[in-house]
Amino acid sequence: QKDGYRFFMEKEIYEQSTVMSETIMGRVLADKIILDELDDDFFEGINAIKICACGTSYHSALTAAYLFERISKIRCDVEIASEFRYKEPLLSEDTLFITISQSGETADTLEALKMAKRAGLKSLSICNVDNSSIVRESNAAILTRAGIEKGVASTKAFATQTMVLWILALYMGQEKQTVSPDVLAKEIDAILHTPKALVVTDRLHAKLTRLSKRYLHGHGFFFIGRDIFFPLALEGALKLKEISYLHAEGYPAGEMKHGPIALADSDLFTIALMPKTMHYDKIKSNVEELSARDATICAISPESFELADDFIQTRYDTHPMLEFFEMMVVTQLLALEISVRLGNDVDMPRNLAKSVTVE
Ligand code: F6R
Repeated sequence: QKDGYRFFMEKEIYEQSTVMSETIMGRVLADKIILDELDDDFFEGINAIKICACGTSYHSALTAAYLFERISKIRCDVEIASEFRYKEPLLSEDTLFITISQSGETADTLEALKMAKRAGLKSLSICNVDNSSIVRESNAAILTRAGIEKGVASTKAFATQTMVLWILALYMGQEKQTVSPDVLAKEIDAILHTPKALVVTDRLHAKLTRLSKRYLHGHGFFFIGRDIFFPLALEGALKLKEISYLHAEGYPAGEMKHGPIALADSDLFTIALMPKTMHYDKIKSNVEELSARDATICAISPESFELADDFIQTRYDTHPMLEFFEMMVVTQLLALEISVRLGNDVDMPRNLAKSVTVE
């Protein structure tokens, strides 16, 4: 069942390219986005979006918030479902309530959805499991079509959730005419290139296997990024924590100087997400500050970076989302190889369950 791969997680990382074509199929045409799941008047009366989710799904939600505001020009905020449930939130009926869940059974996310429904909000779920509790409770659902995910550490579910949310942001932009046909065409072109950006090359995998040797000790990892690469940094850190049991944190790169940089020394490994198409100079200067404090820098970028102790060159430098997906694969494989080297059970990390159906 592992088709020659050592772990389900590894298989699922490699599968992302083909699975992504399924996610896109029929929804993204040459000049138009189609979402049959949504009625023509689905967005009528909607002036804001709130997204609730947990864990990795929360990270795709954070990514989506940037996309909704930038592309669809709609206010969007994101909350961790377990926090939302008990904060006595103020909800208004012009808000679309989106839940994101791989399993569709996460207790906190399901309860958040029920609360929003009781408050009269329209709901939409982004889910990998048809007919799951969350799908059944929602007014509409868009399935991610990732196929069964076995590895406890989520990979292809995250990738496909993020894609569905990108498509949804563009669909709203198209319907509300907040994106011009020119911009839409460029975005569609990038979407159609995504399966290629997700292909794992032998060269990359071999490089990460070699690199993993250097990152077994030390006192922890910072994953840093800006904009959509900040949620990706959070997700990279979560993946590493889950399967390597090493301490890792994700940070917005611009926050380092507000405290975390105090930890910087050569035993602090910084995984720097340095996309060419998004605030490159800003992140570069953030990384330079860390390097000046002797942090060990692993730069992931299409552009070579002279201060990097280790450098992983990415191939795509034309669209932030292509860079996002390519860098996502790098962080997944890095976590995998570090975990393998430490002799951990990659698919069944200690203390974790695939589906969290209790609060
Ligand atoms: C991390 C992971 C978890 C889940 C979280 C929510 O790799 O898998 O953080 O993302 O438990 O699960 P779903 O998406 O099923 O609601």
